[in-house]
Amino acid sequence: MGAFKEAHGGKLRELYLSERQADEEKVRAKDYRSWDLSPRQVCDLDLLMSGAFSPLDGFLGKDDYESVCDSMRLNSGVLWPMPITLDVGQDFADTITEGETIALRDHEGVLLATLEVSDIWQPDLMSEAERVYGTLDDTHPAVAFLQYRSNPVYIGGVVRGIEPPTYYDFKLLRDTPSELRGRFRKLGWRKIVAFQTRNPLHKAHQELTFRAAKECDANLLLHPVVGMTKPGDIDHFTRVRCYEHILQEYPEQTTQLSLLNLAMRMGGPRETLLHAIIRKNYGCTHFIVGRDHAGPGNDKDGNPFYGPYEAQELYKQHEEELDITMVPFKMMVYVENKAEYLPADETEPTDKVMNLSGTEFRRRLREGLDIPEWYSYPSVVEELRKAHPPKHKQGFTVFFTGLSGSGKSTVANALMVKLLEEGSRPVTLLDGDIVRKNLSSELTFSKEHRDLNIQRIGFVASEITKNGGIAICAPIAPYAETRRKVREMVSPVGGFLETYVSTPIEVCEQRDRKGLYAKARAGLIKGFTGIDDPYEVPENAEIVIDTGELSADLAAHRILLTLEKYGYVR
Ligand code: PPS
Repeated sequence: MGAFKEAHGGKLRELYLSERQADEEKVRAKDYRSWDLSPRQVCDLDLLMSGAFSPLDGFLGKDDYESVCDSMRLNSGVLWPMPITLDVGQDFADTITEGETIALRDHEGVLLATLEVSDIWQPDLMSEAERVYGTLDDTHPAVAFLQYRSNPVYIGGVVRGIEPPTYYDFKLLRDTPSELRGRFRKLGWRKIVAFQTRNPLHKAHQELTFRAAKECDANLLLHPVVGMTKPGDIDHFTRVRCYEHILQEYPEQTTQLSLLNLAMRMGGPRETLLHAIIRKNYGCTHFIVGRDHAGPGNDKDGNPFYGPYEAQELYKQHEEELDITMVPFKMMVYVENKAEYLPADETEPTDKVMNLSGTEFRRRLREGLDIPEWYSYPSVVEELRKAHPPKHKQGFTVFFTGLSGSGKSTVANALMVKLLEEGSRPVTLLDGDIVRKNLSSELTFSKEHRDLNIQRIGFVASEITKNGGIAICAPIAPYAETRRKVREMVSPVGGFLETYVSTPIEVCEQRDRKGLYAKARAGLIKGFTGIDDPYEVPENAEIVIDTGELSADLAAHRILLTLEKYGYVR
């Protein structure tokens, strides 16, 4: 059907070999050197192979790369806004030569494609940051990637697709451009407005997307990114469940949902053009572009990296060439007296406009507070509440640290019993001795082994916390740096309360329940904490307890009160 748009740069370019060719290539690939792709590289390869990145036929070579960085064009002259490159380690690069074919594998070793290497070079990554993102500030996620995580060598060349990466989730919602084009054809859709998102959608989004489609006399494609988005975004499992709910809110037969396995760079205006090209390749005719599209937020000084309308302006300059119409995104607001959403510029001075910022919405979610009906759909809010339970339903870790004999175990035991009595969540006690017996029996008390021991405890505690349980840990954990690592492991998935049992060494030594201090003094135990091995006093513990002054019962009670203060128990 001629009504369909051509792909960017001409024909849709799928890079998959035929079944027979793929079988032959697989046999040859046994002798190729293999590169194991990172998750981000798998996303890029997926979009290359499916044709979403048409007209690219592989990872950019050096000339195309320089030209894209400088002038947003491939050597052929076709508009291409961002480099799609394959970064590899120096060691690997040293083993291959230009003209050689290599195997590209996923993290399990599955052969996804082969690459005929045409170029191997050492890019100036900071110059790339400057030219493509216009900044060297590492608060920009793409700059941080180039500066800290990218491999130093790029290899470019033609890709031969063997098989798409395997995803076990939402299979029916993942489409290649030709699959989606086929569906549009079947449905008889000729004009399609695409909506890009990396966030959950609420009523304002439903209103604005549907309004955009109506205004263009078109159908709507919700096309959220599930590859890689901005660090800290809501996970895609939760988001997709939300999208499935909101899909029910559109009139039947008007809207489709499909997931895009793009690894976003948060590249602002340039990335906006890439988003438009991808949607064109998927057969869409219109693309919604909002304020600060694909924006990375603010820089080190608190200023936005890109102007609010920079993306729309860059799009306008290239709209004809892109050949997919921009639909500027209208800010929608809820007008209480009219009980409806209206574009902000269509309200009257007497209207009562309701406002709930994203930050305030997230605060209410976090604290389990009410979210007004006009803002979102109950089904969407319920999904988000499941993913972001209020603190009294989140998991947490109480991490005791202190000298041997300081009373950690006794207080930890008392706390465990009190939390079991409270009964809101399952409780696991990871006492120093229990861990040494069951998890770390082969370890000594060298610095290296103590670190390993504490990191194992941190790992188990983070898993328990992530799954909504309570972990109580009670090792000595004498080193500040290792404790910091544990905090970093646990904090992203729930609460973390460092509890310093500050009982002075004189008291511990006097108690000497296990007789270990006496042995250490006599030189029978070497490297004993507090005697001839250091204990670094915590500087930012949430709770400090001295069992020389407080009974175990009172100490545990004090911790419980602190947990209440932080909102973890009610
Ligand atoms: S660490 O440093 O956090 O890995 O230590 P941890 O796993 O908590 O183990 C501490 C218990 O092991 C006994 N023990 C020693 N402690 C400190 N230094 C040395 N060299 C040592 N050798 C054995 C000691 O009984 C500790 O138990 P607690 O319950 O803390 O008294």
